[in-house]
Amino acid sequence: MTEGRNNNGGIGADAEALISIKGVSKNFKKNGRDITVVNDCNLDIGENEFLVIVGPTGSGKSTLLKMIAGFEAPTTGEIRVGGKMIKGPGADRGMIFQEYALLPWRTVLKNVELGLEFKGGKNEAENRELAMKYIDMVGLSYAVNKYPAELSGGMKRRASLAMILVTKPKILLMDGPFNALDSKTKMTLHTEISRIWEHEHNTIIFVTSELDEAVKLSDRIAVMNKAGRVSKIFKNSLPRPRMGKAVLETDFHNRFIKLREEVLNEVKAGAGLAACEY
Ligand SMILES: Nc1ncnc2c1ncn2[C@@H]1O[C@H](COP(=O)(O)OP(=O)(O)O)[C@@H](O)[C@H]1O
Ligand SMILES: [Mg+2]
Repeated sequence: MTEGRNNNGGIGADAEALISIKGVSKNFKKNGRDITVVNDCNLDIGENEFLVIVGPTGSGKSTLLKMIAGFEAPTTGEIRVGGKMIKGPGADRGMIFQEYALLPWRTVLKNVELGLEFKGGKNEAENRELAMKYIDMVGLSYAVNKYPAELSGGMKRRASLAMILVTKPKILLMDGPFNALDSKTKMTLHTEISRIWEHEHNTIIFVTSELDEAVKLSDRIAVMNKAGRVSKIFKNSLPRPRMGKAVLETDFHNRFIKLREEVLNEVKAGAGLAACEY
């Protein structure tokens, strides 16, 4: 077990975890049978930590994320944020789905402002200024007046990201946010999400099936297996930034490959387990 809590702006050894997941399981009914999708999950996530969750399809990653968001309730166990048990969705947690949640009849600017309209308060001019700030942060200033139909996949992801960020959630929950994007767009968005995370000091829980992405972004990587368990947590102490020139250094490169290999072996072992069971 390589579990560690204090990394890169994370919590100190004596500090409380920002998010505390204790004995959390989730059952669903499938063909009249109860199936356990998340199985006795125990995980502490520190303030300003970037936690990436990987694992084979069907290992319960999305379900775990939805429980942290408050969209699903655990069957057993509890999830606390800042010491308080969560009872449903809250403004402290912003979830970004794979699908975009943009309204087609509103421009980028109007979509991002919508996030603030939901939140209420503040006047129109202030909202606009704030919306522009976050649109700029995701590198979409040049397209503020475009409609979703005029945007590429990458631009839509950026707009959705701005729409959530503008509400300043302390915790960002991202479920495969960059899936199916071309590699160049993905690389740009990796740089941007890292920059935003460093600037805004959010806590990020990021689900992906891509191990390169996991190693590039994370402070820690939690691996889930087909049985719905967190089988292992890897600490990622690769120096940041993990883009640009740093990546070309032999030591960095070797450590990157080594960690990816270790995580891959754990993912494979977890997927294989299910193959024997089923
Ligand atoms: N609302 C639901 N009702 C029944 N089964 C569900 C529901 N949501 C997810 N599942 C099942 O739970 C398992 C894990 O799903 P999910 O959390 O989406 O896994 P992952 O994101 O790791 O691919 C899958 O077998 C899926 O079919
Ligand atoms: Mg999923």
